[in-house]
Amino acid sequence: MKADDLEKTLKRLEEENKKVKFIYVIPDFQNPAGITMPETRRKEILNIASKHDVLVVEDSPYRDIRFEGKAQRLMYDMDNEGRVITLFTFSKILAPGFRVAWILGNPEVIDKFIMAKQSADLCSPVIVQKIIAEYMKRGLLEKNLVNTISLYKSRRDHMLASFEKFMPEGVTWTRPEGGLFLFLTLTEGMDTDDLFNLAIEKNVAFVKGSVFYCNDCGKNTMRINFSYCNNETISEGVKRLADVIKEFGE
Ligand SMILES: Cc1ncc(COP(=O)(O)O)c(C=O)c1O
Repeated sequence: MKADDLEKTLKRLEEENKKVKFIYVIPDFQNPAGITMPETRRKEILNIASKHDVLVVEDSPYRDIRFEGKAQRLMYDMDNEGRVITLFTFSKILAPGFRVAWILGNPEVIDKFIMAKQSADLCSPVIVQKIIAEYMKRGLLEKNLVNTISLYKSRRDHMLASFEKFMPEGVTWTRPEGGLFLFLTLTEGMDTDDLFNLAIEKNVAFVKGSVFYCNDCGKNTMRINFSYCNNETISEGVKRLADVIKEFGE
């Protein structure tokens, strides 16, 4: 998120008498690009939020999956006005199927969350929460995280190396320091919505970049997950995808 664009947008909405409830950000290994927001940018956004008196929702499901580099401070920890609500989840560090997550926020906001959650489903299943609590008590979360990080790092490295080897000129990609996926940009004019069907014929899938935009942009981009497949499958998948991109560009 660009701070100057944010400021402009908030001003415009104020002029239009539209009430902004919160600013939503994914500062760590953002979905879809996998990039991390530096602390300076976090601070700028917090200052703007403060100036316009808007809450900030800091969604951080990938934060603990860091392979290298220095963790940037949570916006929650940088805020001294109680305006940041931070969301975490066990989905990416234990199992998505448990559907259990947790929130940091000021007590007034948490009270509202409790009310909304209770009216939605009364409560997340207690048995599942107990299983997770026991798992953590036995130190298994930390232990498993070490394995997860090491596995995903080696798959990220392998995918980056496969891109270097197979991708045609003009294709660029992000190099996330953690998380589960990265973002590929093809040359201007290429449309990954069309490319998708060709890739599927070769049994390779990706997420079309356009779905992450709200303004019809990103047609030449795609999100690719590196955490799921083994190295052999990654090599074969990248090779097939690169062939499709080359074919498509001809
Ligand atoms: C930014 C972001 N927030 C939240 C989630 C989902 O979290 P949960 O599985 O706990 O609903 C995801 C993952 O899919 C995500 O990318």
